Amino acid sequence: MASERANEGPCGVRVEEVSEDELRGLVAMGFKGYTRVKTLIRVYPGRILLLPRYLALADRLKNFEFRKDDIVVMTYPKCGTTWMQELVWGLTRPGNLRAADSVPLNQRSFFLEVDILTNLEAQLNDATLLERFRAACGEAAKPEDGIILQMTQAAPTHSPRVIKTHLTFPLLNCDLLDKCKVIYVTRDARDACVSYHHHNRLISTYQYEGTFHHFAHAYMDGDVIYGDQWDHTASAWARRHHPNLHIVSYEALQQDINACLAKIVSFLRLQLSDAQIREVAEHADFSNMKTRDSKAPLTFSGPVRASEGSFYRKGGTGGWEAVATPALTTTMNSWIEKRSKEAGFSLPLHLG
Ligand code: A3P
Repeated sequence: MASERANEGPCGVRVEEVSEDELRGLVAMGFKGYTRVKTLIRVYPGRILLLPRYLALADRLKNFEFRKDDIVVMTYPKCGTTWMQELVWGLTRPGNLRAADSVPLNQRSFFLEVDILTNLEAQLNDATLLERFRAACGEAAKPEDGIILQMTQAAPTHSPRVIKTHLTFPLLNCDLLDKCKVIYVTRDARDACVSYHHHNRLISTYQYEGTFHHFAHAYMDGDVIYGDQWDHTASAWARRHHPNLHIVSYEALQQDINACLAKIVSFLRLQLSDAQIREVAEHADFSNMKTRDSKAPLTFSGPVRASEGSFYRKGGTGGWEAVATPALTTTMNSWIEKRSKEAGFSLPLHLG
């Protein structure tokens, strides 16, 4: 239940503070990482659960200036963001794929709002990050205004910029779609839930220590960071006819990567041969990305709990069947049926 402190937040986005009771309930359910934050917030439209640092950066995120040649990879978490980032990065640099051997993906393709997922103190303690920040943004830039956010803005050597975000359209600049191209990736809700469960165990910000059963219920209630998957996708569904939006599913990518890439190449108005497309698909193949990650690992802004495995987990479809009990499967399937009817679309959504 939201507290009384609901208000008009920065840039007209409505913000509610989660009540102390609800926060305690989430911690008791297993989200131990939330003991390190004073509160959580819900942002509307979309009832998006976020960490409170969003409030300090909301204006900057809303007013972030996209460039005409930017390519934005927008997703609900765990729907294939990283894969699509690597694919798009590769498609836009077909002759330079080897650069990925030494530079981690999240230094080649920035995560726009990642600053809100960690606390400033942790960032300030990261000397390497600060050094890169100073080199990119200069001595006058203030870390509290968002380190990665400002690095994304500065990014002089990344043209075209491939920008990752889990924020929905209403939280970003109104001209986003008119200015540049957005690729929105969707995934089966049950697989995304299993993957997000793993992620919530892996990342210390969340430090989830409860059962999958409880996590799945929080997921279905939209009580995970970034809120409800259907509400998130609804923001893309509402804009599905815009020529600068391309909606593709993780499952379709798995089924026929070359066909999906050919459509993305055409959407991005790139000129690539079939051989180049195949090379990029191979470059971003799960096992190749996992191997590269062992040499040039993704750098997270907060600590990771290595005991929970790695970011590159399984990379397949239908894995949820081995994880959910028959009772939970029935509950999730009813939830999916209900949400599909309410939203007017099914997940995974593929309009490619
Ligand atoms: P699993 O946890 O099911 O393995 P995101 O990048 O949006 O966080 O999504 C992460 C999911 O995509 C994880 O799914 C991860 O393993 C998978 N993934 C990452 N790179 C991939 C690739 N190159 N091919 C297929 N799946 C990939």
